[in-house]
Amino acid sequence: MSGTGLPHDPSQPLPVEAQQLWEVNAGWWQRSFTEGADPEYREQIVPLLIELLTEAAPATVLDIGCGEGQLSRVAARLPGVRFVAGVDPTSSQLEAALERQPGARGAETGDAEAGDAEARDAEAPDAGAGHAEAGHAEARDAGAGYAEAGDAGAEHAATGGTAGHAETGHAETGAAEAGHAETEDDGHGRRAPGSAGVQYARATATALPFSDQSFDAAFACLVLEHIEGLMEAITEVGRVVRPGGSFLLFMNHPLLQVPGSGWVDDDILGEQYWRIGPYLAENHAVEEVDKNVWIPFVHRPLSVYVNALAAVGMYLTKMIEPAPPPGFLEKAEEYRQAAGFPRLLVLRAEKFALP
Ligand SMILES: C[S@@+](CC[C@H](N)C(=O)[O-])C[C@H]1O[C@@H](n2cnc3c(N)ncnc32)[C@H](O)[C@@H]1O
Repeated sequence: MSGTGLPHDPSQPLPVEAQQLWEVNAGWWQRSFTEGADPEYREQIVPLLIELLTEAAPATVLDIGCGEGQLSRVAARLPGVRFVAGVDPTSSQLEAALERQPGARGAETGDAEAGDAEARDAEAPDAGAGHAEAGHAEARDAGAGYAEAGDAGAEHAATGGTAGHAETGHAETGAAEAGHAETEDDGHGRRAPGSAGVQYARATATALPFSDQSFDAAFACLVLEHIEGLMEAITEVGRVVRPGGSFLLFMNHPLLQVPGSGWVDDDILGEQYWRIGPYLAENHAVEEVDKNVWIPFVHRPLSVYVNALAAVGMYLTKMIEPAPPPGFLEKAEEYRQAAGFPRLLVLRAEKFALP
């Protein structure tokens, strides 16, 4: 892993400690890309997520690699959404997610009551983190902490129980009770906007602590291109999404953002080209994305994602390649000429429902 002191062959998977880089860089991510700091989130990712989730009309939603929860909170505000779960292995992200939870002390927005914020008997290994260790804890509510569903083979959760309740290796997601969130009816049989709770669990995409077919929709935004174990992660998506449900995948465009891509200035012809790096070879690397900020990246050809989804019965029903949004183009003069090149790729896959 060049630049991080660990040598690494880019054709081979990254060592597990590469994931720790998110722990180190969570603050950088939060400052640079959340709470409206980033025009691509503000002008593109959030509106697209709202559009696609609104079309799918889910009641239960899973945010895989939720970070500090910005998109979980967006999903939770959508009409009809009763329950949102966010999972991420990085505790510094989950701690920020809890602080930013509407209704939490210190949260800036208070448009959704997350509930009673009460943890019982939690044995949080790192004091002050406010998270519950699976097997010992009863974190009864969204505001109280996150379930430690963990890397250590947490058993699958049952939905329908008390939200956020982590017990004997089960993280129970409360699709029915949704963390005591006030899910008020708007008088027309629909749920009022802003009423769902978000439950967080510390878990990786490759071991989701939920039972089969728990969710109407799942999404992962700028996550899968950072992790090893793609097939395992997609298999987990196929397992936890119900037949007929959707998976939304937001990625750095795998064709146009290959490592080694970038602008080439042709001084003789006075032209600028976007060079594309070697596309077909998988590339596992740690890249410096900002000064002293090193993040794991795994490049895979697009077919790897589409075929992985198809292998678990999830078929592509929409593909969006948006032009970079105006706020991004304004900040980067060189990209103004590249308004015709997408940076983002969004795929919607739907799980085949047997008749
Ligand atoms: C670029 S951030 C995106 C966060 C969030 N999806 C968003 O759009 O704001 C990538 C996130 O992936 C998480 N992550 C890293 N390894 C992961 C894994 N194996 N499974 C799930 N998430 C992972 C990181 O902790 C980080 O929060």
